[in-house]
Amino acid sequence: MPVHVLDHPLAAHILTHLRDKTTKPATFRTLSYQLGLLLAIEATADIETDDKRIETPLEPMTARVLARVPLVVVPILRAGLGMVQPFTDMFPDVSVGYVGLERDHETAKARSYYCKLPPLAGRHVFIVDPMLATGGSAVQALDVVKQHGATDLRLVCIVAAPEGVAEVEKHHPGAIIHTAALDRELNARKYILPGLGDFGDRLYGT
Ligand code: PRP
Ligand code: URA
Repeated sequence: MPVHVLDHPLAAHILTHLRDKTTKPATFRTLSYQLGLLLAIEATADIETDDKRIETPLEPMTARVLARVPLVVVPILRAGLGMVQPFTDMFPDVSVGYVGLERDHETAKARSYYCKLPPLAGRHVFIVDPMLATGGSAVQALDVVKQHGATDLRLVCIVAAPEGVAEVEKHHPGAIIHTAALDRELNARKYILPGLGDFGDRLYGT
């Protein structure tokens, strides 16, 4: 399973400020949006286009438009919500689905509490969640979208742990992962090291 780590100086700069514990929620939200934009562009770099005949003010030409629209973006609630707007801003035809999962603080196992998905068969489906830690949430979300007919699956994260990548690979070898960083390891409480702490809490100031 390919893991694509975003290699761009601007992404590295933004991520440094996201990781910094002194960064406050308002700035954190802006930085998440900016990094989400770079990741949205990277994660869609290979999607298909169709030819389209148009006329410029000077002459006819064959140009290109996105094929297989609408794209579908599925945030894992709640932290994934911070990565939706980059997709809705960049792609005029995007459908948004929602999967609600919450990790138990003691066991780090994710519990499902919500699911609302548009039609997924034949679409490019982008699951967005900033943190891939144990991989439990991502695997559950991938299970759900597959049950709803998705076959072209991409997981877009900001920070991934090797343990989470391995878990996704084990259960969903066909899924492609895009991340801004592949960090070192998980700590005893299943937080990513060096990581950036609890993304949802930092995004929403909780
Ligand atoms: C965080 C994060 C992922 C999950 C990753 O969400 O946004 O969804 O943990 O951990 P995992 O790979 O070990 O499953 P959390 O469950 O804390 O909920 P929140 O987004 O509501 O804060
Ligand atoms: N969820 C987070 O928000 N951060 C981690 O490091 C792990 C899971």
